[in-house]
Amino acid sequence: MLSETQRKDLFAGAKQIRAHSYSPYSKYAVGAALLTKSGKIYLGTNIENAAYPAGICAERVAVFKAVADGERDFAAIVVVTRDGGTPCGSCRQVLAEFSPDALVIVANEAGEITREAPLHELLPGAFGPKNLNVQP
Ligand code: THU
Repeated sequence: MLSETQRKDLFAGAKQIRAHSYSPYSKYAVGAALLTKSGKIYLGTNIENAAYPAGICAERVAVFKAVADGERDFAAIVVVTRDGGTPCGSCRQVLAEFSPDALVIVANEAGEITREAPLHELLPGAFGPKNLNVQP
């Protein structure tokens, strides 16, 4: 359960980091704010590259920052884009590795929520660590 303060902080963080998006090719800026179960917030934005496949999504930047910092349990992620587009399949898979039950909140730049659902609803039947007998 997210507190109102956490929700507010996540939206503010996603909006703030979105301003740092490096997306000269798509011009589609994305901001993500990831809340760990320990209460920390990690921010990510999309970073594109002239060699297109080398770019990375906002959600994965946030997850990788958190994991590199020793955090693997996620409570929620807020993703802000101009039209409230939902996280791509690769980002869903990366989030599912660690926290299949994390709440995903997607919003447009006006702050309107376009989708709010646990990750396992966005990626049902995910292949995961259990298939390889691993505990993340
Ligand atoms: N993008 C994200 O950052 N997250 C997603 O889940 C979907 C797409 C980025 C990748 C690329 O920089 C731009 O949005 C257009 O695809």
